[in-house]
Amino acid sequence: MKVCGESLAARCTCDTKFSGSDTDVRHGFSSLPGLGGYCMLRAFFVHLSENRCLRRFAESSSIGRRVSGRFVAGTEIADAVRVTQTVNRSGMSVSIDNLGENVTNPDEARHSAQLYHQILDAIVANQLNANISLKLTHMGLDVDEGMARDLVSGLVAKAASMNPPGFVRVDMEGSPYTQRTLDFVHELHRRPGHGNKVGTVIQSYLKRSEKDVEDLLAEKIRIRLCKGAYKEPPSIAYESKADVDANYVKLMKMLLKSDTYHGLATHDENIIRQAQAFATREKIARDSFEFQMLHGIRRDLQQQLVKDGWRMRVYVPFGTEWYPYFMRRLGERPANVFFIARNLMRS
Ligand code: FDA
Repeated sequence: MKVCGESLAARCTCDTKFSGSDTDVRHGFSSLPGLGGYCMLRAFFVHLSENRCLRRFAESSSIGRRVSGRFVAGTEIADAVRVTQTVNRSGMSVSIDNLGENVTNPDEARHSAQLYHQILDAIVANQLNANISLKLTHMGLDVDEGMARDLVSGLVAKAASMNPPGFVRVDMEGSPYTQRTLDFVHELHRRPGHGNKVGTVIQSYLKRSEKDVEDLLAEKIRIRLCKGAYKEPPSIAYESKADVDANYVKLMKMLLKSDTYHGLATHDENIIRQAQAFATREKIARDSFEFQMLHGIRRDLQQQLVKDGWRMRVYVPFGTEWYPYFMRRLGERPANVFFIARNLMRS
């Protein structure tokens, strides 16, 4: 299960407001008094995100749709278009994600791809400054890899034929999919006409990522760098926030020094400041890369970055399958629960 590709998991980051602490709270339950409550709350929301009855109820109720609006554009393509237009007006580009994952039969996969074709049509029709993000398991990777390749290739070909040309970002899922996703993207990128129209995501918590970045950069494949959102074993993933952040900064520098256009996806102000300082010191043009954040998170910081002349792309998810995504957003930062409750009482 994922959140913007993220998985379920019980990756217990605790509340991000503790992220500057020396205590490692990223992947485990903290032993510090007071922090355990946040972790328990997060685990509670992850648990709720998996509850099928609650999900059915929430996704079909009007109150559910109303509260989810904080992080999810809505259920229809028209909702994604409306939010994208608003975000575009404030000087930011968008990546549109149709929420969904792990389809179990070819018809569902074809239906998902069809929706993405409609999104690309809507981008052209409404002249949106937007691209698309998708997950390979949503395109049927686990059902029939050949079919998934054809479906995604059809989308990349369509993006390439758009004016201005579009772009397809393949989100990164949990580690069982890392190599398959990278192979898939390398292969798609090499197809005639697809170069520069497809890219993927690298997670700084994975120890393998530096080599993966080198391989992607060698072929000038566009990368979105994030910390990673799945529960991974210590044998393959850094455990402490300090190590994940240090690797993020190391990979960020590799990306910025390359001559390919990449995205730095994080809400972490400390890392953003380091990226800005590095770009300024190395005389890297501000329009040669972009920052990326999730819809509804740190809008103040998004606007500030644009005001200061940096590029910003907002990840805008929409779709009927919003419930798990929404619950994980709440679990990441329990303060969001109070924010939503306050707004509900006001309206
Ligand atoms: P961190 O978790 O350390 O948080 C830093 C700060 O961000 C916090 O102090 C807080 O201020 C703010 N913050 C974070 N989450 C918040 C929330 N829910 N509500 C309010 N504030 C919050 N992952 C993956 O595995 N595969 C993928 O393909 C993607 N794709 C992706 C695209 C984009 C555009 C983004 C921004 C993120 C992803 N991710 C992802 C998710 C990513 O791996 C990570 O889980 C989240 O971005 C949170 O990590 P941060 O870098 O924000 O740092």
